[in-house]
Amino acid sequence: MSTNVNTLQNENCGNNLLKGKRGIIFGALNEKSIAWKVAEKAVAEGASITLSNAPIALRMGEINRLSEKLNAPVVAADATSVEDLTQVFEQSQQLLGGKIDFVLHSIGMSPNVRKGRKYDDLSYEFFEKTLDISALSFHKMLQVARKLDAIAEGGSIVALTYVAAQRAFTGYNDMADAKALLESITRNFGLLYGPEKGVRINTVSQSPTVTTAGSGVGGFDLFYDVADKMSPLGNASADDCANYCVTLFSDYTKMVTMQNLYHDGGFSTTGMSLAAMEQYEKSRLK
Ligand code: NAI
Repeated sequence: MSTNVNTLQNENCGNNLLKGKRGIIFGALNEKSIAWKVAEKAVAEGASITLSNAPIALRMGEINRLSEKLNAPVVAADATSVEDLTQVFEQSQQLLGGKIDFVLHSIGMSPNVRKGRKYDDLSYEFFEKTLDISALSFHKMLQVARKLDAIAEGGSIVALTYVAAQRAFTGYNDMADAKALLESITRNFGLLYGPEKGVRINTVSQSPTVTTAGSGVGGFDLFYDVADKMSPLGNASADDCANYCVTLFSDYTKMVTMQNLYHDGGFSTTGMSLAAMEQYEKSRLK
């Protein structure tokens, strides 16, 4: 991996950027999960949080370790269920003692990718599940939160996405379409929510990251390596992503909304890097 300029920042203790804030973190499965790192970082910055994940993920048990460590209650929810999401927002307000200041949507899954179905041979039943879990769940989350008036004035809501929403990437399959929809929902809900309560809604477009969901993409190791070589700062890690999310939850980014924010070491605006060319040259000479 290339030199990562942010490594030192990860050693930081908190700066109380989220002191007194209440948050809900969806999608911490195990300690590789981006949501796991965001949860740790948010608490280190002074927030109190609840954690949520699908019942099947909770049965795997790892989230209990995080819950104990962070003193963060867990509320189960299949993110495709409006009833479950209603429970999460109602219970979180009770448990944390007030309206919610920030929410992380860190949820994605494609049954087509899991079952190795190619983009020109998709199961449409699976495709609908991909869209429901990875994109519509964000709409459901926002609609539920707004109807319950669960978000505090000036609250911040962030979902994680990938640059395959803008550009075609081999192997990313129907997740690319799901991410495009996720980013569109972000803009359209941001337009509604902003004027009422100053609620901000953004997506963070993250580098390839070694997690359970990330590694599900075919040929991930090579994909990760090429992206690393094509990014002037190298791939951004899950810890780096957590740092960025914390700034978006903080009061320092109050006027940022409806944006797709690239957190990718410069990948998305690189045409061709020297490191990638040198690597290609080596393989050509073999
Ligand atoms: P992960 O596998 O740790 O997290 C995915 C989470 O989605 C898991 O906690 C899983 O239980 C949850 N989930 C799946 N179906 C659900 C459902 N029906 N209801 C509630 N939760 C459900 O992987 P990672 O990488 O941390 O993924 C988090 C987000 O980051 C996803 O949106 C992913 O697409 C995005 N992302 C990941 C990248 C990567 O290379 N790992 C790159 C860019 C974005």
